[in-house]
Amino acid sequence: ASYFFMTRGTLIAIEGLDRTGKTTQTTKLINRLAQDGKDVELIKFPERTTAIGKIINTYLTDKTFQLSDESAHLLFSANRWELSQKIYDLLDQGKTVVLDRYVYSGVAYSSAKGLLFDWCYSPDIGLPRPDVVIFLKFKEEENFEREGFGDERYEVAEFQQKVKIQFEKFSGQDNWKPVFVDGKNIEEVGELVWKCYTDATKQALGPVQN
Ligand code: TMP
Repeated sequence: ASYFFMTRGTLIAIEGLDRTGKTTQTTKLINRLAQDGKDVELIKFPERTTAIGKIINTYLTDKTFQLSDESAHLLFSANRWELSQKIYDLLDQGKTVVLDRYVYSGVAYSSAKGLLFDWCYSPDIGLPRPDVVIFLKFKEEENFEREGFGDERYEVAEFQQKVKIQFEKFSGQDNWKPVFVDGKNIEEVGELVWKCYTDATKQALGPVQN
């Protein structure tokens, strides 16, 4: 008899403040994973096309749309729960899943508005836990002045600073890998991102915890 063992795929989350080049780096990582022979799937949060995602999109793009901070928070969380089974299924199929924003954005943005950190975290407890969370950050606030900043609801420098403080509260987690983007070009940041991934996958992956 021959036996076929299939290992589950890796779950990677990319987090970062607005305008840290997160989308560029996510694309780069996905291309590199594909070149490396991985079957890659990208899931971006908020996933704006689902029923809940459509409300979130309206909330983010229409500043006249009224929603309490708590309601908005729970919608972002519910949006992740909408996709949680899909994430488990993709990993079971051996796919590498890249999440562009995840739980950490959810908690950081809402607690930056003044909601309790633990309250914000509660509805996300039980979601698939990433093997690695790559956190793109900068040291200098000047990046908050970048062109195009301020189009969506949360893109205000002062608020971004608060979000950064909340994100840092996750820095003690063993899957948390910060990458400083200051003064680095896209290629250089890309190399650091890749190293986060390869370091995280050196050991065999255990079951996805939650
Ligand atoms: P995006 O620019 O990556 O599409 O994200 C849209 C905004 O939504 C961004 O400012 C971060 C914010 N956000 C939350 O407030 N909570 C969440 O759970 C997520 C995923 C994003």
